[in-house]
Amino acid sequence: MIRLTNHRTGLRFGAAAALLGAVVAIPGVAREDTWLGGILADEMVIPSDEALLVQVGEAVELRRREDFDRMLDARDPGELIEHATLTTVDFDHRPITKETLFVVGDELFGLLLRPENGWGARDGRKTPGYTPRLGRVHRGTAGGPDAFGCFGCHSKGGPDGAGMQTQNAFLLGDGGRLSSADERNPPHLLGLGPIAVLAAEMTNELQAQAAQTAEKASEKGRDIEQALSAKGVSFGRIVGHPDGSLDRAAVEGVAEDLVVRPFGWKGHQATLRGMIEESFHIHQGMLSLPIQEKVRDGELDGQPYGDGKRWFDLDDDGVTLEVDAGMLATMVGYLAQLEAPILRPPIDSGLLDAFAAGRSSFEVIGCAGCHVPTLEIADPRMNVGTTDERPRFVVDVARDGDGPKVEPKYASKTTPFLVHLFSDLKRHDMGPALASRSEQGGVPARHFLTRPLWGLADTAPYLHDGRAPTVHDAIVLHGGAAAPVRDAYLALDEGERASIRVFLASLSRQPKLFLP
Ligand code: HEC
Ligand code: HEC
Repeated sequence: MIRLTNHRTGLRFGAAAALLGAVVAIPGVAREDTWLGGILADEMVIPSDEALLVQVGEAVELRRREDFDRMLDARDPGELIEHATLTTVDFDHRPITKETLFVVGDELFGLLLRPENGWGARDGRKTPGYTPRLGRVHRGTAGGPDAFGCFGCHSKGGPDGAGMQTQNAFLLGDGGRLSSADERNPPHLLGLGPIAVLAAEMTNELQAQAAQTAEKASEKGRDIEQALSAKGVSFGRIVGHPDGSLDRAAVEGVAEDLVVRPFGWKGHQATLRGMIEESFHIHQGMLSLPIQEKVRDGELDGQPYGDGKRWFDLDDDGVTLEVDAGMLATMVGYLAQLEAPILRPPIDSGLLDAFAAGRSSFEVIGCAGCHVPTLEIADPRMNVGTTDERPRFVVDVARDGDGPKVEPKYASKTTPFLVHLFSDLKRHDMGPALASRSEQGGVPARHFLTRPLWGLADTAPYLHDGRAPTVHDAIVLHGGAAAPVRDAYLALDEGERASIRVFLASLSRQPKLFLP
C-alpha cells in the first residue's frame, strides 16, 4: 500500500493512512457495490518499520532542502522564483518530465511572491516606496491583492488544503468595506485534475446533443425537443427549430453555452487554467500574458486589469512579464497531478455501523441526487500545456503525480475511471437565505455548484462563505431546490442524523508524513 517516490512531495505518501488498521470490512456493503467498492482498499497494510524509517528519512531530507532554500533566499533575494516556475520557452524547447513539472509547481504554490515578480499594485495605483498595498476587500473583479502566495489560503488539513474562516477572500467588493464584499471560504484543491477532465467530457456530451438536435430539426423541418444529460446527470431540455436555431430556455444547471464549469463555489470557471489565471490576478495582483494579449486584441474588457498605457503592463507596476503561459502551465500541471481524497471509515465497530447506516440514508433521503457519489471518466488524459493547441503536454490524471489516485472501474480494463466526488457538477438554486451578495461570472446570486464532498472532513468551516461551523449546520442551511431533502434530514431521528454525519466525516484525505 505504501508508495514511495523520489521527488520531494512523494514524502507526503501515507504512512499514517496505512496505520489505520488491517482489513476494513463494512457491514452491509457488498464488494461489488458500485461506488463504495472502488474507494475501499480490500486491506490496508501496516508498513514495516523499515518503510516508515525510509519515509522519515525522506521527510527530513525534504525539510533540509527547504531550509537550504530559505538560506539561499536570505543570501540572494529573489533567486527562488528561478526554481519555482517553468517558462513558455522551457515548455517549447526543453524536454520536461511530469515529475519535474510537479516538483516545480509545488515550489510555485508555496512561494511568497514579491513586487519584483509583479505582485501587488491594483488598478494601476502606485504605492509609495517599496511596500505594495494589500487589500483585504477586493475592488470589483480587480481583486485585493490579499495574499503573497497560494499556500496562504489553501493549507488547512494538509498541503493544498482548504482555508479557515480567517483565510476567507472578500470578492467583488468596493475595495474598503467588508460588508460590500462577497465572502468566500477557500476549498481544498485535491482531485481537481479528475474534476477538470469530467467537466470537459460532460461539456462535449451536452454540446454534441445540442448540435444533433439542431441538425435533426432542420432535417425534419419541425421543432425537436431533446432532454440533455451528461454522465447520467440531467441538464434540462433543449428545443431545436427548423432554421437550425436552438431554444435554450429549459436548460438547467449549466450556462446556456452548455459548458460545465466545475470550479469556484458558484461554478463560474471551466478550466484549471482559467481558475489559476484568476487566482494570480485577484489574490496576487499578477497579470498573465494571455490575459494582456486578449485585452490588447480587444477580446477581453481591460477594465479589471488596470489602466496602464502599455498593453504588456496593464497594471502599470513596472513589471512587464508577470505570469507567462509557462507559469500557468506549471501550476496547472501541478494541481492536475495532486492526490485524490479517499474514504476513511471509522475503525470503532459501533461507529462503523453508523457509517454504513449513514451511507445508506445519504442515498435514501436524496442527498445523492445532487451530491452524486461517483462520476466516470472515459479518458483520463488532460492537456496541461501552454496552449490548447500543440505542443500539448499531457498528464494522466488517473496515474501521474501524487497518490492516492482515482481508480479504474474494472481491474482488467484501462477505462473508465471512477471519481467519487459526490457532486453532479451542476448549479442549483439554493434559496434566498444562502444567496451571495452578487452574481459572479454570470451565475445568479442564489445559484451554487453542488460542492464536491470528497475530502470534506478536513475542510471546516462549510458552505461558500464558511458560515456553517459544523456539517449539521451546513445541511440545515440548505434551502431552495435542496429544501425537501433538508427537511427529510430534519425528519430523521437524532441517531439517523448522526449516522449521516459519521458517514460524511469519513470523506477525508490520506494522512501523510510531513515535517512542517
Ligand atoms: C486569499 C485566499 C486565497 C489565495 C491566496 C488563493 N486562493 Fe484559491 N481560492 C480561494 C477561494 C476563496 C476560492 C473559492 C473561489 C470562488 O468560489 O470563486 C478559491 C478557489 C480556488 C480554486 C478552485 C477550487 C474549486 O474546487 O473550485 C483553485 C484551483 C484555486 N483556488 C487555486 C489557487 C491558486 C493556484 C492560488 C495561487 C495563485 C490561489 N488559489 C490563491 C482563496 C484563495
Ligand atoms: C439540490 C441539490 C442539493 C441537495 C439535494 C443537497 N445538497 Fe448539499 N450542497 C449543495 C450545494 C449547491 C452546496 C454548496 C452550497 C454553498 O456553496 O453555500 C452544498 C453543500 C453541502 C455541504 C457543505 C460542503 C462544504 O464543503 O462546505 C455539505 C456538508 C452538504 N452539502 C451535505 C448535504 C447533505 C448531507 C445532503 C442531504 C441531506 C445534501 N447536501 C443535499 C447542493 C445540494
